[in-house]
Amino acid sequence: MASLSTFSTTVPLRVAARPQTYLFLAVRTYSGVAASTINSSCLARHHASPLTNTPKRLISSTPQPQIKEFFPPPANPAVKEVASAWSHPIYTEAQMNNVRVAHREATDWSDWVALGTVRFFRWGMDWVTGYKHPQPGQEISKKFKMTEQKWLTRFIFLESVAGVPGMVGGMLRHLRSLRRMKRDNGWIETLLEEAFNERMHLLTFLKLAEPGWFMRLMVLGAQGVFFNGFFLSYLISPRICHRFVGYLEEEAVLTYTRAIKELEDGHLPEWESLKAPEIAVNYWQMPEDQRTMKDLLLYIRADEAKHREVNHTLSNLDQAADPNPYQTEYQDLSKDHPTKGIDNLKATGWERKDIF
Ligand SMILES: [Fe+2]
Ligand SMILES: [Fe+2]
Repeated sequence: MASLSTFSTTVPLRVAARPQTYLFLAVRTYSGVAASTINSSCLARHHASPLTNTPKRLISSTPQPQIKEFFPPPANPAVKEVASAWSHPIYTEAQMNNVRVAHREATDWSDWVALGTVRFFRWGMDWVTGYKHPQPGQEISKKFKMTEQKWLTRFIFLESVAGVPGMVGGMLRHLRSLRRMKRDNGWIETLLEEAFNERMHLLTFLKLAEPGWFMRLMVLGAQGVFFNGFFLSYLISPRICHRFVGYLEEEAVLTYTRAIKELEDGHLPEWESLKAPEIAVNYWQMPEDQRTMKDLLLYIRADEAKHREVNHTLSNLDQAADPNPYQTEYQDLSKDHPTKGIDNLKATGWERKDIF
């Protein structure tokens, strides 16, 4: 069944030249992704929302506007589904709840280059979007309060960027293998799978909100700059680039942990009864009792923790000679080895420092 209702909201974006001014970026949010993904009480709340921009009369002679599917399934009647090459490993609830915000200490100058770049990007993103996280015990001002729509806008932008590094790394290693006529030792698959996984995060959020033209322009600009920057950087030092992605994923785990905490604390009421879209249920193979918005955020956070582990690990390796430990079959199965499943930092020899 088609989507049932929409509402619009605005998200502040700070203009560089005028520090206290905000651009307002329209994001249309689907409050009823599909009849099966939202319950009636939640729907009723959305109908009552002052943000609703379309008339919501229960009895009307005027046809209600229908939302078109943002990316509908193939229209060809002969096609039932388009299968993916990568099936997602199963995460248990306990494993996902065990994911922690963690940091790998920078140990040399190249780590500091990677960490410094990530910190600069984080600061820039927070500054441009007017984002502030309250310190423990501090009450955040209304201007900086995160709503469901602000979170979705942030997720969509960040996921559109997060899908770039794996594709660039995979592409360059593929070309290198062709050029040098040498095996790649299994890195390409993991990097392309990471890019695919990030794109699935993006597609999932796009079932919950549709970005406006300004947001699309921002994504276009960010992709143009980031793709080329990462491409050149990866040619110079793939090791620093994987470290950079490892630190970037530390930030992603932090971001999703904060969103989950806000949801648990009751600050995001519209998400409390919202169900995960069908695309997510199928991709993560979510059990029937684990299909809420909170579950979705737990799944995505666990993926980001996996990217954190994988990229920090790849950065520790000899980029030209070492096989990818995530694609390797080991002789001694009695030892702990890296796997494709939930993050397992112990197996990689990276002692994590939990932050909270
Ligand atoms: Fe992601
Ligand atoms: Fe990620």
